[in-house]
Amino acid sequence: MRFQPKDKSKILVSAPGKIMILGEHAVVYGYPCLVTAVDKRIYIEASKIKGKKDIIIAPQVKESRFVEESINFFKERFKVNKSVRIKTFGDFSHRVGLGSSSAVTVAAFKALSVLFDKKLTLKEIFDLSYQVSLSIQKVGSGFDIAAATYGKTTYFVFGGKVINSFEVGNLPLVVGYSGIKADTPKLIKKVSRAYLVKGEQIKEIFKEINQLVERAKTCMSSKNYKELGLLMNKNHQLLKELKVSTVKLDDMIEAALKAGAWGAKLSGAGGGDCMIALVSEDKKRLVEAAIKKQGGEIINVNNNSEGVRQEYVNESNSDSTS
Ligand code: MEV
Repeated sequence: MRFQPKDKSKILVSAPGKIMILGEHAVVYGYPCLVTAVDKRIYIEASKIKGKKDIIIAPQVKESRFVEESINFFKERFKVNKSVRIKTFGDFSHRVGLGSSSAVTVAAFKALSVLFDKKLTLKEIFDLSYQVSLSIQKVGSGFDIAAATYGKTTYFVFGGKVINSFEVGNLPLVVGYSGIKADTPKLIKKVSRAYLVKGEQIKEIFKEINQLVERAKTCMSSKNYKELGLLMNKNHQLLKELKVSTVKLDDMIEAALKAGAWGAKLSGAGGGDCMIALVSEDKKRLVEAAIKKQGGEIINVNNNSEGVRQEYVNESNSDSTS
């Protein structure tokens, strides 16, 4: 759905949330991952205001610092000193782990670039947003920022070394929220501690994940969902070896498989947040019911969605991103 702001002096942009398909954790160590953008979006309404202070209303993110820092980085880079009002609203909150902080950050840079008529390419939006994310969270590969920026389904390597967005259509995924909010930085640290103690063993796990990601990319393009499902199952086993899954996630995954899913795995850092199952249309209801029976909440999303975009173009502020 596209919104039309009533007041045309305001800019309205949006960026999508994401779902990690394969490759989490390994991507932090330089291996690739596959991520898809979802049709749940964060919207930002922005306008220039009088006065010395910016006004930020951002209920969608846990920390309004993501917006504050984006404004600071933007003003510094473009030598802007006019104050702004930024208000976020949208289809999801930080609760479910769909990447609201990344979507907000990406949307903020896009909004500011349009508001002040400064050209920013998608790669520049990615780079600035990743800097903001690192300045706040200290860790992370940036895959979620790539999804919010470029949309579609993306083959991504740490820090944006490779960002290859490709069109695969809507993958038939069921998404189940475990009801527990994951602490991503904590889980990244947990894996890095294991890496320090048993480096070679963990490296072998990452190499295996790497192979799954490469094969999964081909399976996605050829819509070979049966094999893609098997790759997801293997990826989940490897994530279990990394000790980032939980009993609840494992139960939801097992139930989805028993109900006929082609494959299922945790999605993201683990420790909570969501699992995903790849499911044929005729098994979808059964799989959803099985996940719910384990206490999961179904998050209804389509994937392979559009990246950051301006929702409304008026004469004084035409779209400046290419
Ligand atoms: C978290 O959703 C996925 C991780 O790979 C972290 C990251 O890539 O930033 C664990």
